[in-house]
Amino acid sequence: MSYNISITPIEKSKIDQLDFNNIPLGMSFTDHMFICDYENGQWVNPRIEPLQPIPTHPAAMALHYGQAIFEGMKAYKSPEGIPLLFRPELNAERLNKSAERMGMPEVPKELFLEGLKELVALDKAWIPPQQGSALYLRPFMYATEAFIGMRAATSYKFVIMASPAGPYFSKHIKLWAEKQYIRAAAGGTGEAKAAGNYAAAIRPTELAKAKGYDQVLWLDAAEHKYIQEVGTMNIFFKIGGNFITPELDGSVLHGITRLSVIELLKSMGYKVTERKITIDEIRQASQDGTLEEAFGTGTAVGIAYIKEIGLENETIHVSDESPVAVKVNDTLNAIKIGKLEDKFSWMTKVETELA
Ligand code: COI
Repeated sequence: MSYNISITPIEKSKIDQLDFNNIPLGMSFTDHMFICDYENGQWVNPRIEPLQPIPTHPAAMALHYGQAIFEGMKAYKSPEGIPLLFRPELNAERLNKSAERMGMPEVPKELFLEGLKELVALDKAWIPPQQGSALYLRPFMYATEAFIGMRAATSYKFVIMASPAGPYFSKHIKLWAEKQYIRAAAGGTGEAKAAGNYAAAIRPTELAKAKGYDQVLWLDAAEHKYIQEVGTMNIFFKIGGNFITPELDGSVLHGITRLSVIELLKSMGYKVTERKITIDEIRQASQDGTLEEAFGTGTAVGIAYIKEIGLENETIHVSDESPVAVKVNDTLNAIKIGKLEDKFSWMTKVETELA
């Protein structure tokens, strides 16, 4: 199905205000946004407009009850200048899984992908050419209905905005294993990309940063012993030559970078196991010298090398070098920018004449 997406281009691009050599994540935005309304049980009026504030009723249900979900993905540029998207259909599917959990309507996959491609085609000049940089794409949906009672909203907006972004971390990072606060419990919203999950993480993250850590390592809600994920990423450990990552037990985000790294590591001949992992097991592996590497995976961060995990009264040393993670990162990045054969068929080209 093809959607009739109307396009209102900006009068004058703001791109000359951007310094491509200094683009921290999420601080600058491209000229346009894709927007679509959900009314009377259907998505209507798909359009691309200049990026601008969206009028919101003070009783909009997203503001009160948190019916808000989002995705994170990136567009890259091939050596020939063609915009490339990394596994965008998986983001469309995950958005709809989040929508189901939060009582929100699904966005048809074709609508998601068409809106995304039109936006990227129109704003392709904003894809940073620098290695390690990309155009971060943020599809999101929120409840717009003005209503104070408690039930699923009947009107929503689905929006995609784009933000050029440079590398997230430039050095090995330190995690704080959190034993007081939790991120997700069985039966909760942990595997949804729901705004509220991130809201609940803000204070613990600020406290961890004040102690000198980069992000929080979340442990399970019941016993504070099983590792779930990290602030903005999934986590992998290399122990005794093999990789392990927490299983997707309902409390862990189904990371698209996570999935891709599993596939890549296996293709490189490594054994990768998805299972429960305790923080005690990681401490023991560090003590007996079998903990070789640890790294986080996520869209915004890419691959973040981990050197240390802090807990109350102790520090687990991981490693100052992450040779396999670096290789995985380099391979993934080369595939994303079309410099290495895409043997997994992960990349989608964007027809730039679309817009
Ligand atoms: C992403 O990696 O795309 C995320 O959604 C993390 C974000 C909170 C920075």
